[in-house]
Amino acid sequence: MESKTPYFIMHKERLLYNLEFFKELERVLDINIYFCLKSFNKKEPLKLISKYISGATISSKQELKLAKKVGFKDIFSYSTAYKDNYFKEADFVSFNSISQYNKFYKDAPSVGIRVNPKIEFNTPKYCNYSDKNSFLGVDKESIYSLKTINGLHFHTMFRATAEDLETLLNYIDNNFSNILPNLKWLNLGGGYDFFNFNLIKAKKILKEFKIKYPNLKIIFEPGESLLDNLGEFVVSVIDIVNSYAILDTSIETHLLDIAIVNRDIKIKNKKTGDHTYTLVGNSGLRGDIIGKYNFKKPLKIGDIIEFENMIAYTLVKNTNFLMTKSAKFYFN
Ligand SMILES: Cc1ncc(COP(=O)(O)O)c(C=O)c1O
Repeated sequence: MESKTPYFIMHKERLLYNLEFFKELERVLDINIYFCLKSFNKKEPLKLISKYISGATISSKQELKLAKKVGFKDIFSYSTAYKDNYFKEADFVSFNSISQYNKFYKDAPSVGIRVNPKIEFNTPKYCNYSDKNSFLGVDKESIYSLKTINGLHFHTMFRATAEDLETLLNYIDNNFSNILPNLKWLNLGGGYDFFNFNLIKAKKILKEFKIKYPNLKIIFEPGESLLDNLGEFVVSVIDIVNSYAILDTSIETHLLDIAIVNRDIKIKNKKTGDHTYTLVGNSGLRGDIIGKYNFKKPLKIGDIIEFENMIAYTLVKNTNFLMTKSAKFYFN
């Protein structure tokens, strides 16, 4: 592809593959997938996503507008703190605190609250939603002070397994069996690594749960997992200083999420060898370090580097630091 770096490229046929998988997941596990718009919000791909799965999860007024525009049928709204009641136009609403609930519950079409289960999962600190001192979600005891409630919401996972899901479902069953029969929905959040999931186990535990609580619509709200392996971020080497290769990107402009979760990024088609370079950004910041890689041949100015699996949470977090123009996005 003849294009000026830096740019993102997302492959339509790979998206279709993931969407077929998620559609089948809904059917086999008898669940509802609501794509989390926070992770990615380009219109054309979203139109396609909306045709395959049950709905979208949104966290702002702008995301709500976009979800409607691209055709998502059902919308689940959650915000750490709502400033106003724009969520009235969603189908399900989750509040993050008792004060937010008290302020807005009357405006919610179907009202729920996020619970912090305080279970230790294997998550990086930045994404540890179950932290005992977290501000995300209420304590389980607080549920009983609510005047009315239709659903419970949990988001506690990061690249989680079916065993983690089992831990969460057991917790929910052990702590809320008295109210679950009166609820309409249960949102189990995002953070599941569905492509590496033990689906047989997931099917079994969800089925057992459903037999106990047939009244519950079970929602999952994945972002990253639905976008797994859909495209690359393509950059060029613009200078080489000692063993540093300076690229036409930076952590601050295009790679914030990678830095935050300390993600190791892979280079496409890279053959490993004896030529070691630290790839760095061009922001001028000493900490603008992408990583150390071994190459088969020495790098040269003008070489193209393609970082793999770069769609989730990258584009949505791009910045215009140093008045940098936004990186181009191609979908084909
Ligand atoms: C409340 C909530 N649900 C779902 C997600 C999506 O999580 P993931 O992209 O890890 O699947 C997020 C992401 O931060 C979130 O905050």
